[in-house]
Amino acid sequence: MNGAKSGPSPRRVAVRILRDIEQRQGFSNRILSEQLERHPELDRRDRGLITLLVYGVLRHRGRLDKLIDSFADKPKKVKGELRMILRVAAFELVELERPLGIANAEAGKLARRIDPHGRLSGMITAILHMIDRDWPIMDVALSDGSVLDALTHRWSVPRWLAARWLDALGPEQARARAQALSVPPTVDLRVDLHRSDAGTLRELLLAEQPKLEFIDVPEPAGDQPQCLRVRGGGDLFYGPAFEAGLFSIQSLGSQQAVRALDPQPGERVLDACAGMGTKTVQIAEHMRRRGEIVAVDASGERLEVLDAGRERAELEGELKLEIIEAELPATADALAADSFDAVLLDAPCTGLGNLGRHPELRWTALESNIGDRAELQAELLRWCAGMVRPGGRLVYAVCSLEPEEGEAIVAAFCSSSEGQAFTRELTQSWTPEQHHTDGFWLARLRRG
Ligand SMILES: C[S@@+](CC[C@H](N)C(=O)[O-])C[C@H]1O[C@@H](n2cnc3c(N)ncnc32)[C@H](O)[C@@H]1O
Repeated sequence: MNGAKSGPSPRRVAVRILRDIEQRQGFSNRILSEQLERHPELDRRDRGLITLLVYGVLRHRGRLDKLIDSFADKPKKVKGELRMILRVAAFELVELERPLGIANAEAGKLARRIDPHGRLSGMITAILHMIDRDWPIMDVALSDGSVLDALTHRWSVPRWLAARWLDALGPEQARARAQALSVPPTVDLRVDLHRSDAGTLRELLLAEQPKLEFIDVPEPAGDQPQCLRVRGGGDLFYGPAFEAGLFSIQSLGSQQAVRALDPQPGERVLDACAGMGTKTVQIAEHMRRRGEIVAVDASGERLEVLDAGRERAELEGELKLEIIEAELPATADALAADSFDAVLLDAPCTGLGNLGRHPELRWTALESNIGDRAELQAELLRWCAGMVRPGGRLVYAVCSLEPEEGEAIVAAFCSSSEGQAFTRELTQSWTPEQHHTDGFWLARLRRG
């Protein structure tokens, strides 16, 4: 026995996943877990490395490509699997500060599949050698150019999005946003304040995982008694505190929509795009699990996740939860207009606020996607408004900071004839640069 590990090399799996994401233009988290499920033999450490490499390469792809292109004799010929192998190796050099010898040897091994005779090995070694030597100088040069170039090449923001940020935010804030999104996001927990509190949960989690590192929520976020912020996160999903339903994993920005809605015990509340129910459960927590919630979504598959979690989230007893699969606004005839105290519309959108958790969106989203759902968003908002009782409230939220998906939709509604009955009470933006969280936008309206 030589103790050598069997199974695929983590770097090879990472390259495969990255190629798959590129070719299918799919969600990184789904493809990553699909592929990891195929390799139960990989241990926890290998899984951690694969995850780190996949998200890291997606997050830094523009910068890694610029480095590769600067040192390749014929950059256009560095494509497909070869480019992905070099991106992984370059990421290890510049972000993980791995020794050149290791990065180069691993890249060479991976390349053997596409280059069995080793014809590319000299080129791979030369490129990696130059990246290892010169990346700090290159980084400075990439940052020093025009802000648009710096956002694109140093901070790996697609050029069209960088141009929008520059326009909307100005150079300083655009750069701050890009920088904030260049590091792995924290893991945020939402404590069920009905069943525990942040201090108690922190102690419980530390007993489960003594090395867990808690970080303060940044000051501009104000008082957030329900939020605990963790770096890394480890196996939080499997511990007894999670099993007992004492907390959910949800980013600070995403936690704000239900806080703004502020559902009360005994109310009747509509969660119009409930998805897998992260916010439905939060609504139940605010209501102290007393009252009535109707959760609607077009996706039966997502609603099944909510349904399956009923027991863990204690969505039974005094709380009446009705789950309806329906494509709004067309197929929700059963719901009576003017009958809800509070309505949450967590509207379908580009998700461009989620670049931290979904770095692949940098490369899969298109500028033209931004307007794609405007009509649906406006229609859903109108329909949801019709469900609110006089005096009731309505929160419109999107995980996007693009004004076409937030401000423009709500402003247009408020100036329409139906919108005249509502007053806008609150508007909030949650941003990576200020709150170190996913980008989230919301507005609360109250019916007169
Ligand atoms: C931003 S996600 C909601 C996330 C969810 N609220 C949560 O907290 O996990 C938007 C949801 O809108 C749903 N959706 C899209 N179009 C819809 C429609 N016409 N009617 C109902 N739901 C729709 C999608 O299936 C998706 O689950």
